[in-house]
Amino acid sequence: MRTLAKDAVNKIGEEITLMGWVAGRRDHGKIIFIDLRDRWGVVQVVFSGMPSSGELTKIPDISRDFVLADKLRPEWVVEIDGIVKERPKGMENLELATGKIEIQATRLKILSEAKTSPFDVLSDGREIGEDNRLKYRYLDLRRPRLLKNLTMRDKIISFIRDYLHKKDFIEIETPILTKSTPEGARDYVVPSRLHPGKFYALPQSPQQYKQLLMVAGIERYFQIARCFRDEDTRGDRQPEFTQLDLEMSFASQEEILALTEELYADIIETLYPDKKISQRPFPRLTCKEAMDKYGTDKPDLRKDKNNPNELAFAFIVDFPMFEWKDAEKRWDAVHHPFTKIRNPEHEIRKENAGRLMAYQYDFVLNGCEIGGGSIREHNPEILEKVFEIMGNKKEDIRRQFGHLLESFEYGVPPHGGIASGVDRLVMILEQEPSIREVIAFPKTGDGRDLMMDSPSEISKKQLRELHIKTAD
Ligand code: AMO
Repeated sequence: MRTLAKDAVNKIGEEITLMGWVAGRRDHGKIIFIDLRDRWGVVQVVFSGMPSSGELTKIPDISRDFVLADKLRPEWVVEIDGIVKERPKGMENLELATGKIEIQATRLKILSEAKTSPFDVLSDGREIGEDNRLKYRYLDLRRPRLLKNLTMRDKIISFIRDYLHKKDFIEIETPILTKSTPEGARDYVVPSRLHPGKFYALPQSPQQYKQLLMVAGIERYFQIARCFRDEDTRGDRQPEFTQLDLEMSFASQEEILALTEELYADIIETLYPDKKISQRPFPRLTCKEAMDKYGTDKPDLRKDKNNPNELAFAFIVDFPMFEWKDAEKRWDAVHHPFTKIRNPEHEIRKENAGRLMAYQYDFVLNGCEIGGGSIREHNPEILEKVFEIMGNKKEDIRRQFGHLLESFEYGVPPHGGIASGVDRLVMILEQEPSIREVIAFPKTGDGRDLMMDSPSEISKKQLRELHIKTAD
């Protein structure tokens, strides 16, 4: 049976089997030291030329294995039997969790050899060109820093799941092959083989589905949801990213913000106890206050921006419903059209568009927008007016949003929700400069996967099946 590197310390005097990668080899003539790495740690293995004590004599060909150990190179994968021993006094390595022991090897089996790695996989990797790191991402991910990022990401997500389940939310998967939605970015589209000339769109967010789930009576929904937006990539933006998406029926803006605050404060307290939240309750600023005072709607409210452990959460509330898009000569929703207007004393028509305010809120951390949401308009007539103000013709509204408007005619509860960027949260908590450092297989700045080489051409046969002609 295999013993993990971290467990070897509890097995002094026993013979164990370790499996993992060669992290390093030091040759001292009659003694070879191997650092053996698995996901849980590194342990030192010693190969001596000949068995020095009676306990090894049951392994007659140790010298053959010594010769084999001399061949080992970094990143080879091996299986090693050996006896766990306390290191001689003065030889301990207190920086290593297993630094008080070493394994006296009794048998070595090479499971696979490795070519020389194109870069050092044990450094923090910041000195290596990113293209190279992304091309060999499976090697890059061996780096302890990235392993830690993925591990913490998993812990955060599983904490969120447990937390919301305890509050009676249910996680529901919504479709990836769906229909274009007006969230502000370009859609990724997927051609349909069975319906020539028609396309699915990948979801920019599960927005309409989660609202339809409220009509369905789910009341408390969440999803760790993959979203797709064809927009220019930046440090905090990827073409595909992950949201904690949630929606509640019969809930006020206050209840949604309170739930969000409690969840995030608990994540920090449990998983990042060394970090300090600057202010509780999280400060709330209106959009106007934030703009007037800080010149941005995502202000960085840290008291000391050099302190890596300070977390300044804030909610920005009371956004205008519409903004004028000069290039397109039309009003557009600041958040999205499904948002409820909070000053209905103004009639909802184009002439008043600049005056209408929304039940919209953004969630900000250290100057980064980590979430956004709203209370939704559930009156189908008002919703139609919003679409009209945005420049949609009546027949287009029915074609594009008929399903949602119609569903609202069958008993819709008032509802609202929020979606928070998981990648951005992990990036900030792990003090990384980009969300690419906390996503296992991210895309480059120009949207490519250098390891898989995508996007890539498809065969003429596939194109024919999809009824697609390329314009080259
Ligand atoms: P919104 O568009 O504001 O709202 O998105 C919510 C949060 O998702 C994160 N985010 C991104 N993260 C990485 N890369 C991207 N390209 C990217 N785009 C957005 C941000 C952002 O705050 N359906 C609504 C939510 C709702 O109304 O409930 C929505 O998607 O952290």
